[in-house]
Amino acid sequence: MTKIKRIGVFTSGGDAPGMNAAIRAVVRAGMYHNLEVYGIMQGYEGMIGGKIKELKSSHVSGIIQHGGTILKSARSQEFRTYEGRKLAYEQLKAHGIDAVVAIGGDGTFTGAKTFSEEFDIPFVGIPGTIDNDLYGTDFTIGYDTCLNTVMEAVDKIRDTASAHDRMFFIEVMGRDAGFIALNGGLACGAEAVFIPEIESHTENLKSYLEDGFKRKKSSNIILVAEGDEAGGAIEIAKKVQEDMSDYDVRVSILGHIQRGGSPSASDRILATRLGVAAVEALLDDQKSIMVGLVNNKVVHVPFSRTIKHHNAIDLDLVRLIDILNV
Ligand code: F6P
Repeated sequence: MTKIKRIGVFTSGGDAPGMNAAIRAVVRAGMYHNLEVYGIMQGYEGMIGGKIKELKSSHVSGIIQHGGTILKSARSQEFRTYEGRKLAYEQLKAHGIDAVVAIGGDGTFTGAKTFSEEFDIPFVGIPGTIDNDLYGTDFTIGYDTCLNTVMEAVDKIRDTASAHDRMFFIEVMGRDAGFIALNGGLACGAEAVFIPEIESHTENLKSYLEDGFKRKKSSNIILVAEGDEAGGAIEIAKKVQEDMSDYDVRVSILGHIQRGGSPSASDRILATRLGVAAVEALLDDQKSIMVGLVNNKVVHVPFSRTIKHHNAIDLDLVRLIDILNV
């Protein structure tokens, strides 16, 4: 029988649409299982500073449809130090918290893993990031909403690109991963994508564009992941413009618009399933694991594996971009 009576929940790192739905699920699943649930504000920063308050069912009413996170988020430098983690432990103890649900990405789980090795409070993670780059889950919370935001924005840019016969380099988020650029590109019928997982060749792009030009293709949309090794959209556009002065080139950087907005149905359902799964994993005395979804089934993946590996891009999807541009 578990001794857990009171759990904490927090969000950390870049926020993602659906984090509120996950918080709601954690609170309600906790109450269903007769636990007390405490919300920790501003991620690890709030844990260190003792910004901790009880959450009741009413606190999470009417939040499932909202982007952002009612618990706020932060990236904590102090938690990277042993002293910071010790302060966090003392605060959790002072608030009688026996176990914690961490909602975030790679950095969040790295901190949680280290903490659990040093102190006797179990952590279970829920993958929340628009990047979809976490190993051990098919999808992360926020990714689907983000893709839809990108799709709507690019569709609009396509209208003006086409009206002016222009070439647009559109930069999307993804420091280390190209999921948003690649799948966003497929969803919008982009002519090309630049992603960190694949070496980019602006020369290939040039010959492709020249072919298109001969076929009277007048506008082009190229999605660039911010972490591409060839540089961001501005650098790549500059190189292409220098070599191909006939083209009317423009750049658009979508930025943080990609992190906001009401979560899609898929993200709300994912967040709800994983929120309940995280609470039940703690009750089952699990620790240092992330709950994820693989082939539509809930799975448990040790933090050590999620942190060490990267979610791989399906190279066949890159081939589709080429096939669809004949
Ligand atoms: O990790 C999510 C993410 O949105 C990345 O795609 C992006 O590089 C980063 O966060 C931006 O972080 P910040 O909001 O701190 O600038």
